[in-house]
Amino acid sequence: MSPSLRTQVGIVGAGPAGLMLGQLLHLYGIDSVILEKRSRQYVVERVRAGVLEQGTVDLMHEVGVGERLAREGLRHDGIYLAFGGTRHRIDMAELTGGRAITIYGQNEVVHDLIEARLTTGRPLHFDVDDVSVHDLDSRSPSIRFRKDGVEHEIACDVIAGCDGFHGITRAAIPAARLRLYERTYPYGWLGILAEAPPSSDELVYSLHDSGFALFSMRSPQVTRLYLQCAPDEDVSRWSDDRIWAELRTRLATDDGWRPNEGPIFQKGVTGMRSFVVEPMRFERLFLAGDAAHIVPPTGAKGLNLAMADVYRLATALAEFYRSGREHLMDVYSERALQRTWRAQHFSWWMTSMLHRSDSDNAFDHRRQLAELEYLVSSRAAMTSLAESYTGTPFDA
Ligand code: FAD
Ligand code: DHB
Repeated sequence: MSPSLRTQVGIVGAGPAGLMLGQLLHLYGIDSVILEKRSRQYVVERVRAGVLEQGTVDLMHEVGVGERLAREGLRHDGIYLAFGGTRHRIDMAELTGGRAITIYGQNEVVHDLIEARLTTGRPLHFDVDDVSVHDLDSRSPSIRFRKDGVEHEIACDVIAGCDGFHGITRAAIPAARLRLYERTYPYGWLGILAEAPPSSDELVYSLHDSGFALFSMRSPQVTRLYLQCAPDEDVSRWSDDRIWAELRTRLATDDGWRPNEGPIFQKGVTGMRSFVVEPMRFERLFLAGDAAHIVPPTGAKGLNLAMADVYRLATALAEFYRSGREHLMDVYSERALQRTWRAQHFSWWMTSMLHRSDSDNAFDHRRQLAELEYLVSSRAAMTSLAESYTGTPFDA
C-alpha cells in the first residue's frame, strides 16, 4: 500500500455488513477499500448468529455467494415455543404464505463473503491498527490507519461505518448531532456448540421457571444451545456437566423430547442490549449494522438488520454514482431506522416474554405464561410473530 490512496467508498469493518456492502458495490462497479482490525482467522472463526431471514438468503444469492448456503443451509418452516412442559409449533411458512428462515452460521456467511471479495481482487486489509476517520463534513473524507507499522491515508467520497458496536466511526460523530436510545437487560446468554446431532428439526425457544433456554443447530452434526445467565457470568463456573444439567431442566418437555448431548467445543457469554443511534448518518459518513443499532438476540435480528442496512446503502450509493442524485442517500437513515425500530420492538418483546428477571414477581410469571398461552392459541398472534420472525423483504 502506498501512504496516500484513493477510493470511492471506504468501509471500516469486515463483519457481515462491511463485506456485503463491498460485494454489492463491486457489482455496481463502485470501488471500495475494506479495513478490518482483526485477523482473517479471527473474523471467520467468531461464533455468533445463525438465523438468516429470507431477505438475507435472497441477497446472498443475488450477489453470487449463495452456492454453499443453498447446499448446507437448513431451511426451517417453523419454530417451537416451549413452556409448562409442552412444545407448541408455530408453522411460520403456512402463516406467512411460504416465508421461512435458514440456519447457516454467521461465520459461514463471513467466510463466503471474504472468498468472494478476494476473487474480485478489490482491497480487503486485515490486522490494521489505529483506524480513524477525518473531514467527514467535506466532499473528501479520509481514513487513516496503520498496517505493519506503516501509516496510510485513504481519500474517499463516502465512508461506511460497518465496525460494529465498539467501533470508532460512530464515536467520530459530534455528540450534539446524535440521539442515543439504549436499554440493557439484567441477563445474558451462555451459548455453546456441541458435537451432537440436533434432536429437533426446528428451533425450540423455551421459558422455564429457572429461565430461558434455546435449542438451535448449525448442521446435521452440530447442536447450538443457549441458556439465560447473569450478564457478567463467568463461563469458567460452568462445567460441561452443569451446562447439560441446566439445559435438560429448561428444555426437556413432557413428551420425552430433550436435546442430544455430546462434547462441547465452544462456550461464550453474550450480554443483552437494545441500542439505536439516530440519525445513522453524519454528512459523508453512513453507519450500518451494529455500529448503528444492537438488538437482544432473542428475535435473531442483528445480522439480518445489518444486511438490510447495507442493501439500502449500496442502492443509494449506486444512484449517487450513476446520476449524481443524493435523494436515496438523504433518506437512507430515516428508512433504515423504520426497519430498525420494528426489529427493536420485536426483539424486546420476544426477550421480555421469554426471560425471567430477579425483579419479576409471581404476577409477572403468570402474565408471561398467559401471553404465551394466548400466542400459541391465536392464529392472529402466531401470524404476527411469524411475520416479524421471518422478516419482510429488503427494500431500497
Ligand atoms: P460486526 O459483526 O460486529 O462486524 C464489525 C467488524 O468491524 C468486526 O469484524 C470488527 O472486528 C471490526 N472493527 C471494529 N472496530 C474496528 C476498527 N476500529 N477498525 C476496523 N475494523 C473494526 N445476533 C443474532 O441474531 N443471534 C445471535 O446469537 C447473536 N450472537 C451474538 C454474539 C455476540 C458476542 C455478538 C457481539 C453479537 C451477536 N449477534 C447475534 C449479533 C450479530 O452477530 C450482529 O448483529 C452482526 O454481527 C452485525 O454485523 P456487523 O457487520 O454490523 O458488525
Ligand atoms: C440462534 C441465535 C439466535 O439469536 C436466535 O434467536 C436463534 C438461533 C443461533 O445462533 O442459532
